[in-house]
Amino acid sequence: MNPFTEQEAWEEHQIGKATLKFGSKDKKQMSDDYQYVFEDQIEFIKASVMDGDKYGDEVPMESLDNSKEKSALQKLQDERKTLPVYPYREELLQAIHDHQVLIIVGETGSGKTTQIPQYLHEAGYTKRGRVGCTQPRRVAALSVAARVSQEMGVKLGHEVGYSIRFEDCTSEKTVLKYMTDGMLLREFLGEPDLATYSVVMVDEAHERTLSTDILFGLLKASRNTSNFIFLHKKSKPLPGIPLGWPTNYTLHFSTVAYMHWSELKFDITRFRTDLKLLISSATLDAEKFSDYFDSAPIVEIPGRRFPVEINYTKAPEANYLDAAIVSVLQIHVTEPPGDILVFFTGQEEIETAEAILKHRTRGLGTKIAELIICPIYANLPTELQAKIFEPTPEGARKVVLATNIAETSLTIDGIKYVIDPGFCKMKSYNPRTGMESLLITPISKASALQRAGRSGRTGPGKCFRLYTAYNYFNNLEDNTLPEIQRTNLANVALCLKRLGILDLQNFDFMDPPPAEALLRALELLFALGALNKVGELTKVGTRMAEFPLDPMLSKMIIASDKYKCSEEVISIAAMLSVGNSIFYCPKDKQVHADNARMNFHFGNDGDHIALLKVYSSWKETNFSTQWCYENYIQVRSMKRARDIRDQLERLLERVEIELTSDPNDLDAIKKAITSGFFHHSARLQKYGSYRTVKNPQTVHIHPSSGLAQVLPRWVIYYELVLTTKEYMRQVTEIKPDWLVEIAPHYYQLKEVEDRMLSLSLSLSHTHTHTNNNNNNQL
Ligand code: CDP
Ligand code: MG
Repeated sequence: MNPFTEQEAWEEHQIGKATLKFGSKDKKQMSDDYQYVFEDQIEFIKASVMDGDKYGDEVPMESLDNSKEKSALQKLQDERKTLPVYPYREELLQAIHDHQVLIIVGETGSGKTTQIPQYLHEAGYTKRGRVGCTQPRRVAALSVAARVSQEMGVKLGHEVGYSIRFEDCTSEKTVLKYMTDGMLLREFLGEPDLATYSVVMVDEAHERTLSTDILFGLLKASRNTSNFIFLHKKSKPLPGIPLGWPTNYTLHFSTVAYMHWSELKFDITRFRTDLKLLISSATLDAEKFSDYFDSAPIVEIPGRRFPVEINYTKAPEANYLDAAIVSVLQIHVTEPPGDILVFFTGQEEIETAEAILKHRTRGLGTKIAELIICPIYANLPTELQAKIFEPTPEGARKVVLATNIAETSLTIDGIKYVIDPGFCKMKSYNPRTGMESLLITPISKASALQRAGRSGRTGPGKCFRLYTAYNYFNNLEDNTLPEIQRTNLANVALCLKRLGILDLQNFDFMDPPPAEALLRALELLFALGALNKVGELTKVGTRMAEFPLDPMLSKMIIASDKYKCSEEVISIAAMLSVGNSIFYCPKDKQVHADNARMNFHFGNDGDHIALLKVYSSWKETNFSTQWCYENYIQVRSMKRARDIRDQLERLLERVEIELTSDPNDLDAIKKAITSGFFHHSARLQKYGSYRTVKNPQTVHIHPSSGLAQVLPRWVIYYELVLTTKEYMRQVTEIKPDWLVEIAPHYYQLKEVEDRMLSLSLSLSHTHTHTNNNNNNQL
């Protein structure tokens, strides 16, 4: 219910106004600061370039005082002028000045991402607020920010920064902010009018990631408040609005729904006609985007493009990894100089290919030029990522083994040959079973075209498609399905609810998600207690939305308050968030690595507790790297877990949860986990398989789990993955009555009892037949 009476609503209105005034004063102050930074910097660049003046700590460009570095900066500045976007600089700035929304299309490598934000900065936009530029991928946000800071001669994190989940490399000074689209979405939660921004550039828009699509809807609305009227046409009338309210305020008030009732503030977006929105991409259906954004003008930047010769295989390849390696070697031995780019689907494939290539090139002898192998994927350490941008030494050839990231997000100069096996890893979601899977899937024609284009940037190129022409023309889809239509929406639904958007079905999606997927998401949020019966956000939901995590993980953390084990639970949440890269297993030391891993499973307390033990043990050694080596644990993943945990700890404070701990009460920890994951429960069946309790389907414990041999009767799992079978990963044993205790609205006693009964019946039945005590197998 709306907590405000009429009078309070009116007072809030006044406060709203006051805040607004205060806000603009703040903004003025801010813009003065920016101006200071801006001028400071120009002065500085001039100074350092001209006479090598030192500027002290504030602007860390000391290194520039030697002439070599100075000329490097000059060289970068000259290079900027050679990019295809440069001749369009004035035209672009004029169009941005004249229009609020602009669609920008330009070939990969033309300079959209690195240059346009700089042009805006140079033109003074950053005096009014930040320029934000979103990227679908972490690596792209990071590497582009690094490049731009280099071009501007400033330290990364100062004037130019980036923000990706769990990693904020920005400061008060930051005026150009590169970030993942998911991060901007989260910023909406704290700042629904994006007051600190003067321009938002949604880059790589063609990727149509879930976050990008949601941003479209929000940004579209935030330009034009009338878009929010629908919010309360369908929902109940806004309480607190006195009759006879002046009509101009009706519109004003319609936007109140944009926020949560309980935070009745005023939507400043009405006053944000100054916010510029740029939608950019190398390849997109510009008309569709323009239509969606109320006929926004389209600017096309013609790229340089050289002819690309496309080759297909005559027959389908049985093993594209092998075929790709053979192609690399063939090109290396027979084709003229020029670097090679190969597209793989993920880290594992890239690592395999790297190992095989290293092995095979060893035997090539000294007559063949050196082949420099450069992998690039999201989890690659930053310092290694930089390697792909280093110029290839004379007489050598570089081969870049990349994921989809090199399709449009990153430009690597000097590529002349592209090898395209025709696959990528794609998420898919089955709303009926709730199962999400990451499957290797054929790419779309649009992707194939982009991949081929990567070879013709600096001269004529060649693309080797490891599939047949027939396959290309007849079997590949034209475009990739937007992520919103093939993913679990729980996270996004919570985020939108938090923004006060009550009627998700009528949200202005560019392409709406399947109704069933949306319904599933709402059901889950309801089951987790984040929404009430009429679909409004509850207090629990509001607290959950504070965490940049999947709603089930957030709920687990909220529940840890009740079970007095928040210390342990945030460690577990952090470890789960790192993914499956905690343990590593060198092929020649498999037995040792397995033993080391199983040490953490001593006591069969399940995988969550094992992760906790890993974290705690590492902490006890004072975060020792040596300890990680000895235990076959990836130190990089552990450091990431520690960073994530630190952030979660700070967020605990925001939701007023104290740090509590009783490492010996494992049941309390397991109950907290169950509070988030009761939805993911499964019961042992015959022959060691499991049946999920809701939406019944047969699943198995993943062989890497500590419980794979133990086979407890009742388990909850973190995620389902489909590889050779449907596997549950990160599994913990529970007592079935916990389900009823913790989620009585979701599980009824009867349901759990009946199942216990049938299990015990089948147990006794089997006992009589097998006449032994291997009831573990049931
Ligand atoms: O966004 P778009 O694909 O239009 O181009 P960009 O990312 O702005 O790249 C423009 C140029 O900057 C590329 O041709 C690269 O030479 C250079 N660049 C780089 O050297 N290192 C990066 N991390 C990013 C760009
Ligand atoms: Mg780009």
